[in-house]
Amino acid sequence: MALMDVLLDEMRDLYSAENQLVKALPKVAKGCNDDSLKSQIKNHLEETKGQVLRLREAFGHLGKKPTGQHCNGMEGVIEEGQDALEKDEEGANKDLCIVGATLRVEHYEVAGYTVAISLAKALKQTDVAALLNENLKEELAAAKALQAASKPLLKQAASEDDADENEDEKKPKSAKEKQSEQESQEDEEEAAPELQGKAASKAAKTSKRK
Ligand SMILES: [Fe+2]
Repeated sequence: MALMDVLLDEMRDLYSAENQLVKALPKVAKGCNDDSLKSQIKNHLEETKGQVLRLREAFGHLGKKPTGQHCNGMEGVIEEGQDALEKDEEGANKDLCIVGATLRVEHYEVAGYTVAISLAKALKQTDVAALLNENLKEELAAAKALQAASKPLLKQAASEDDADENEDEKKPKSAKEKQSEQESQEDEEEAAPELQGKAASKAAKTSKRK
């Protein structure tokens, strides 16, 4: 596989990811309780549309078409975001679940653009690298803004928790939640043999220190 094909793969992955987000972000914005978080996500939706256009422009420089690869990673991250929206949480807690999901989206994109930019630079595609870098800067700024937005939400969530102190009845788990719980146990079991040696040496180190 030529290096140019590696770059095209990365860019097509990003193109699919951004298009998936154009579809998903309006639902995320709708699910926010906090007005400033809502407007932040709406604002990033507009940025995302611009990012799709920038990627098209970058493909134009390379004389290639932008489609050809569906981004499974973003599909998974968006699915997790949908789980956050469906969670039985309210108020600031729900908004914090949304911050967690959207921050994952931004970091996923940051990784993709970082790799694609270094490939474009290695191939001396400076126009392409510059366009990708504009998208990267927006993703980094969006991630920073989301972290800032979470600060007042954390305070609010803490006071809401105090108010809900007596409300300890739990709703039964949905089929999806039960499946997720089962799969997380399987993850742990499958990783366990790999961790055995590590856990034993950590325990030995700790007992030595005592
Ligand atoms: Fe993006």
